[in-house]
Amino acid sequence: MTADLLDGKRVASEIRAEVADKVRQFVHGGGPQPCLTAVLVGEDPASQVYVRNKRRACEKAGINGRTLRLDAGISQQKLLETIRGLNDDPAVHGILVQLPLPTGGNGGKGFDERAILDTVAPLKDVDAFSPVNVGLLMQGRPRFLPCTPHGIVQLLHRCNLSIAGKHVVVVGRSDIVGKPMAMMLAQKNGSCGSEIANATVTIAHSRTEDLRDICKTADCLIAAVGVPEMIRGDMIREGAIVIDVGINRVGEKLVGDVAFDEAMEVASAITPVPGGVGPLTIAMLLHNTLLAAQLQLHS
Ligand code: GUN
Repeated sequence: MTADLLDGKRVASEIRAEVADKVRQFVHGGGPQPCLTAVLVGEDPASQVYVRNKRRACEKAGINGRTLRLDAGISQQKLLETIRGLNDDPAVHGILVQLPLPTGGNGGKGFDERAILDTVAPLKDVDAFSPVNVGLLMQGRPRFLPCTPHGIVQLLHRCNLSIAGKHVVVVGRSDIVGKPMAMMLAQKNGSCGSEIANATVTIAHSRTEDLRDICKTADCLIAAVGVPEMIRGDMIREGAIVIDVGINRVGEKLVGDVAFDEAMEVASAITPVPGGVGPLTIAMLLHNTLLAAQLQLHS
């Protein structure tokens, strides 16, 4: 078997065009131009690239993408005050604190990341990291959906796949991907209807025993561990859908969490790295920024 490639780049550009269209309609109808402010602390080169890509994507969608650059030496207190300022600024609709925060920040003491993310106003929390938005998702009445899992739902839907009633194994339990992904796929009514929902979900992680055997029972295997090529071909069931969330730099190359060539031999469909899940994260961030502007208009 040779797997079909799930073209995240194509789906992301489709979503971006739809968001751009909706932004035009929103502004045409008298709404303000949506504005996303990314808070970038320190000089991490990868974070700088991510934030620049987000800003460019905003511009192409008609969204005002701002970057607030802060010195790594800023104190926790000052950073919290800055975020509160953005919360109170009616011209800012979405706030994104780029992670990871620099380890030696806050005068060498390191930042309290949780306290910083908790300070972002829930109605401006386009990453959906705040406890309010996580709680709403848990209760099946989400406001913002976290961008990467939501992008995966959109990808499955737009590639005409269904996971209803199927066994999904999510490898990885991060707050950003693994946990919300599992929750979204297990719920009754998903953002794309009942077919990209209603799954039987297993969350596997670094302490899981018999990981290979558990992965092998998956109709849909989602790898979000951040370990290059950890998921080998012999861990994948014949005909499974494989979603690779990993973006790992190995030398000059970007590789996923899945050994791609091996997986191609057994899976029925797979996301490549790069060009799979990655582009969808930004597309869904644009979606959330427009949603934030719409919600604030009516709040
Ligand atoms: N760093 C890596 N992924 C993300 C993300 O989705 N949001 C933010 N804010 N930072 C990140």
